[in-house]
Amino acid sequence: MTGFAARLRKATMSEHRDAETRGFITRLMGGTVPRDGFAALTAQYLIIYRELEAAAAVMRDNPVAADFADPVLSRVAALESDLAHLYGPDWAARVEPVAATERYAARVREFCRTSPAHFVAHHYVRYLGDLSGGQLVGRKVAATYRLDLPGTAFYRFDQINDPKAYKTVYRARLDALDLPPADLDTLVDESQRAFTLNSAVFQDLGTAYPEDLVPVA
Ligand code: HEM
Repeated sequence: MTGFAARLRKATMSEHRDAETRGFITRLMGGTVPRDGFAALTAQYLIIYRELEAAAAVMRDNPVAADFADPVLSRVAALESDLAHLYGPDWAARVEPVAATERYAARVREFCRTSPAHFVAHHYVRYLGDLSGGQLVGRKVAATYRLDLPGTAFYRFDQINDPKAYKTVYRARLDALDLPPADLDTLVDESQRAFTLNSAVFQDLGTAYPEDLVPVA
């Protein structure tokens, strides 16, 4: 890989490492986050993906970003059904943002509906992540909390049979982005920021849900 996709991956490598090694994520992968903490993570995602997918609805008419705003990626319905399973019928009342989620959602709301560079940056960090490490996280949490599809639908893309092939196409879209160099620089910067916003959410969740489970697997 030598194009923009490779540049983006390289430029965000250290932020990626920072996000994946946050205590909350390490504990999630070690099976020691209490179930309420996992439910709270799912709730944070709902707040974030509602903003991302509201931006995607606008960007479907944008010539630069339209291909990224692919409806097969949409996660809001899956998150709502997961939360109904995790929290029960009153789930909507229990969706509370931590402070970092408020900042993250505000950033997406402010920039991603009007700027294709910002939209693609936030889109890349979440959805390509969901199709990558997210697949490992999905298998782990399903085992930890003994959940089948209800509760972990967020991690499964029903309309994508081959995530690896989808990621190859996605990276080709990144390579083909029709943006001036200054906007590509903005996209790189905003992707770093998006990773940092994710890390901050994990940080807040780690504080709110200290370790208390004995690992089960
Ligand atoms: C347990 C935590 C995580 C693990 C084990 C993990 C693992 C991985 C791995 C193995 C890849 C490379 C996949 C490939 O090239 O096909 C990858 C890529 C990626 N991950 Fe993660 N990840 C984790 C957390 C995260 C988080 C929290 C985010 C963002 C919020 C994220 C965003 C990404 C993105 C955007 C890519 C694509 C990089 C690129 O090729 O341009 N990951 N991850």
